[in-house]
Amino acid sequence: MMGLKLKITVDQDAGFCFGVTRAISKAEELLAAGHQLYCLGQIVHNHAEVERLEKLGMQSFSHENIDSIKNKTVLIRSHGEPPETYQILQKNGNQIVEATCPIVAKLQEKVERSDSEGSFVMIFGKAEHPEVVGLTGRISGNYIVVKDLADVDYLSLPKSLTLYSQTTMDLDSLNQLRSKLEEEGIEVDFRDTVCRKVSNKKKHLESFAIENDVIIMVAGERSSNGKVLYEICKSKNSRSYKISQVDQVSPEWFKANDRVGITGATSTPTWQIQDVLEAVSKL
Ligand code: F3S
Repeated sequence: MMGLKLKITVDQDAGFCFGVTRAISKAEELLAAGHQLYCLGQIVHNHAEVERLEKLGMQSFSHENIDSIKNKTVLIRSHGEPPETYQILQKNGNQIVEATCPIVAKLQEKVERSDSEGSFVMIFGKAEHPEVVGLTGRISGNYIVVKDLADVDYLSLPKSLTLYSQTTMDLDSLNQLRSKLEEEGIEVDFRDTVCRKVSNKKKHLESFAIENDVIIMVAGERSSNGKVLYEICKSKNSRSYKISQVDQVSPEWFKANDRVGITGATSTPTWQIQDVLEAVSKL
């Protein structure tokens, strides 16, 4: 497969968002200063980047093993954690390095306030997503997590509620959910908490997908944002492919003189996009 004469463009908007960059910089600083650093969960939903940091000395551990971590330095990643996590870590003598994205931290505060004011909280998001676990862990009253408009049982809902969103959800779908709730006669205190880093990307990515013949989305398998962004590309360009590592690039995807656009999720490191660029350039 030599000489396909592909015209390759790297999406200038691709790469880590501010929250992830901040968490990784904190980890790098601590590792460079010789700290033995532990991270609760994957610091970013990108296996290759986690591996890179682990080679620098960072150790990741899961929530199941939280009780075995004692007297260590533990980093809380950008997704945030529920209060219970902090209690356990502190009880076991750990020093906590706070790297919750400030946008997520604001959202946590707002959800907590709504709950303490007695509101019924609806969160548009995925119940098992760590950011949502961090939010629901702050609610002592009634709440519901809704992933999909089709799943909502409107009759079971109260007459009024406060609507929040996981930061990486699709803004159009959130607006549709709000409209549907209002159509059903529910009074909605609407808090649009979709991160602009994500929502602004939608329009840009739609044009990027149209401008190119083939799109390669580089994103970790567990990246929510990667899935959302890939679906946007796919809706505009059927020759869109999602990969989590460079060796998944398949020469069969390309024809001579194709315009190829390479992009990534908010959790995709720039170096990984560069690796894909290099591999595609050789076709
Ligand atoms: Fe924060 Fe937005 Fe990233 S909420 S972690 S900057 S996607």
